Amino acid sequence: MKPQSGSFAATVFLSVGVAGYAVWTYVGGDVQRAPVHPAMVAVFKEHRVLITTHAAAAALALLLGPFQFLDRLRAARPRLHRTLGYLYLVLGVTVGGLTGLLLARHSFGGLVAHLGFGLLAVLWLFTGVMAVLAAKARRFADHRTWMIRNFALTFAAVTLRLYLPLGFVTGLRFEAFYPAVAWLCWVPNLLFVEWVILRPRST
Ligand code: HEM
Repeated sequence: MKPQSGSFAATVFLSVGVAGYAVWTYVGGDVQRAPVHPAMVAVFKEHRVLITTHAAAAALALLLGPFQFLDRLRAARPRLHRTLGYLYLVLGVTVGGLTGLLLARHSFGGLVAHLGFGLLAVLWLFTGVMAVLAAKARRFADHRTWMIRNFALTFAAVTLRLYLPLGFVTGLRFEAFYPAVAWLCWVPNLLFVEWVILRPRST
């Protein structure tokens, strides 16, 4: 990916926006004033350490992720790529994924939401492990493919917050559309990158 490309700029813009919101609200701010459903605020108050850790770790993944796909940076500074990669995977994905998994059982929207967020967390951790194993075995094409899948799942934090206003526009009650959003935020992302990975290249 090139830094001047529109898709890179859009990815960074949206990632920084959502990471900023997460840190501002849950790390620097007061959970009690979070702009979410009152039932979610009650859960976050009860699991304050969990939501703060989750927001901080996942925000780090969102901030670091896009830069790992810059071909020139990777080629020019391979050690930086490795260091940021470990920070992304260990502090971001592993800590964010494990806390996300624990939060999934308390998520708003019942069993459908618990399963949607739970499977997202498991796949986030799984694709991260696969990416590390491929890099260690020096299978760099596979490593790249697993990291694309992994970041598509990280990006669920952005797509979730893009779908929420759409849900409100439809006039449906939050209780009705939030469980669907727990799946919609990541399944299309994964299908899209799978298409990108599998499509024949013209070069
Ligand atoms: C990709 C794996 C992820 C999983 C499985 C996951 C899981 C969850 C769950 C279950 C909740 C509670 C939702 C509820 O109570 O209904 C939550 C909330 C939250 N997550 Fe994640 N999450 C993930 C990624 C991220 C990322 C990358 C960020 C980036 C900053 C993030 C930021 C937040 C924030 C800020 C909240 C609080 C709710 C809000 O203010 O909208 N999460 N997450």
